[in-house]
Amino acid sequence: MVQKDIENKIPIYKLKKTDEVIKYYDEWGVENKYDQDMIDWKYSGPKETVEVFKKYAENKDIKIYDAGCGTGLVGVELKKFGYNKYDGADLSQKLLDLVPKDLYQNLMKADLNKPIDLKDNTYDAVMCVGTFTFGHVKPQALDEFIRITKNKGLICFTINEGIHEEYGFDKKIEELEAHNKWKKIEFFKSDYIATKDVNAWLGLYEVIK
Ligand SMILES: C[S@@+](CC[C@H](N)C(=O)[O-])C[C@H]1O[C@@H](n2cnc3c(N)ncnc32)[C@H](O)[C@@H]1O
Repeated sequence: MVQKDIENKIPIYKLKKTDEVIKYYDEWGVENKYDQDMIDWKYSGPKETVEVFKKYAENKDIKIYDAGCGTGLVGVELKKFGYNKYDGADLSQKLLDLVPKDLYQNLMKADLNKPIDLKDNTYDAVMCVGTFTFGHVKPQALDEFIRITKNKGLICFTINEGIHEEYGFDKKIEELEAHNKWKKIEFFKSDYIATKDVNAWLGLYEVIK
C-alpha cells in the first residue's frame, strides 16, 4: 500500500520544538483564524470524538479533563450533549484566552509532555482531540492521563494517522493493554480532516486500577 505523505499536508506538522508549537498556535489564534480554518477544513475531530464518548458516558455530571483543549471546540460538543463539568488544559495561553466564557469550569496552562500538576484519580474521563499529532504531545502522556483518571474512567483520543507508528503510539497502546492499565472499547480510523485527506485513529479505552 502507498504511504500517504501526511507530514506535508498542514504547516503545524513541520513543527518540532515546544516553543515553535506555542508560537504557531499563539499566532493562529489571532482574529479567530484557528476556528475559521477548522470550519473551512471541515475538521470533524471534536464532533466525531464526543459522539463516540457519549455512547459510553451516560452520566452527564462526570468530571472531564480536555487535554489540549485549544479554543474549546471539544467543550462546545460536550455542552451540546449536556455534559457540564469539564476542565481544559493547553500549552497556548493565547488559545486558552479565546475559549468561550462559562464553557469550561477551569482552564489551565500546561505542557502535556511533562507530569500533569493534578492528583491521581481526579477525573472520570480524559478527552484528547487533535493533540496527538506531529511535534505535539508524545505517547508518554497516556500514562499521565491514566494516572489522573479514576478506575473505570474513560480516555478518549485521536492520533493523527501519520504519527501512530512513527511516534510509537501503536506500541504504547499495546503495552498499556498488556499491563492491564486499560481495556479497549473502540479503536477505528476516523474522518478527522477529510478535506485535507488526513485521517486519525480514534480510541476509547476504559481505565483499570
Ligand atoms: C490541533 S489543536 C486541537 C485543539 C482542540 N482539541 C481541537 O480539537 O480543536 C492541538 C492543540 O494542542 C496544543 N498543544 C500542542 N502541544 C502541547 C503540549 N505539549 N501540551 C499541551 N498542549 C499542547 C496546542 O496548543 C493546540 O491547542
